[in-house]
Amino acid sequence: MKRILKGVATAGIIALAVTGITAGSSSAASKKLIVVGFAQTGSESGWRAANTLSMKAAFSKANGFKLIFNAADNKPENQIAAVHSFINQHVNAIVFSAVVTTGWANVLAQAKAAKIPVILEDRTISAAPSLYATWLGDNFLKEGTTAGLWAKKMVGTTPTNMVVLEGTTGSSPAIDRAKGFNAAIAGSPITLLDSQTGNFTRAGGKTVMEGFLQKYGKTINLLFAQNDDMGLGALDAIKAAGLTPGKDIKIVSIDGTHDGLTALAQGEFNYVVECNPLLGPGVAKLVKAVLAGKKVAKANTAVDLAFTQAQAIAALPTRKY
Ligand code: AHR
Repeated sequence: MKRILKGVATAGIIALAVTGITAGSSSAASKKLIVVGFAQTGSESGWRAANTLSMKAAFSKANGFKLIFNAADNKPENQIAAVHSFINQHVNAIVFSAVVTTGWANVLAQAKAAKIPVILEDRTISAAPSLYATWLGDNFLKEGTTAGLWAKKMVGTTPTNMVVLEGTTGSSPAIDRAKGFNAAIAGSPITLLDSQTGNFTRAGGKTVMEGFLQKYGKTINLLFAQNDDMGLGALDAIKAAGLTPGKDIKIVSIDGTHDGLTALAQGEFNYVVECNPLLGPGVAKLVKAVLAGKKVAKANTAVDLAFTQAQAIAALPTRKY
């Protein structure tokens, strides 16, 4: 299987349409700190843990920030309440990774009225772009397309029954990855048996896969897990059903965490598409640029790779997350 991205240097590179901005400086600590409220989705996955670490490191005191961190336990109402509280605390900027795409217009209009710029991190929302300054994240549609094209090529002309573990219902990665994947497999002999949410968690992936196996048994040939954690949870269910993951059921997943690539290196996953979580430095640069009144692109996209088994084996020793 060929590498998906040719000529791209290394994983972890963020392509930013922002130039001439440096995050932090040695004298930053002596200056007034920039107060940033960050509303994270929660702690559902290994990807999320790496993303939180990256954000906390980038929004450090040494880089000139005071970070007010909130994790919403994947509840949209918690997250909107957190953003309200950031407005009430008169923070300098608000950053969030939206649990779901909808429901943001009112609170963002309030942030705008309070003259607090909003920067989207990781996930996109359906509210009017005039309500936020900029977004930095991964191209979920492309990730789904890459996973789907691999599946289409892998099955060739063999009739194949597929099940799908979806991410959080209503979240931009769940919506866009499904869109990209479905378009990519159009015209292939892949039949969708079932598709349900596992909420991007290992426990969710295991429980939903157990249900799929009870219902469809050995007729399942292919699993598309919209993130590594759900795929890893499904491994337990597949083994408990007496089947061999990677052989009886081929598995394609998205994220490229250390655990996901380990499963691929061991032959239990068959293909993994990367979703880069190391967004902190890029978001911090954007926050400083926006507060300095600089012109920034509305959308800034991270570069993602994709991995075969051999590529996972090569990447693992230096994998950062
Ligand atoms: O928004 C990115 C997605 O959210 C990641 O794929 C998933 O693991 C996470 O929880």
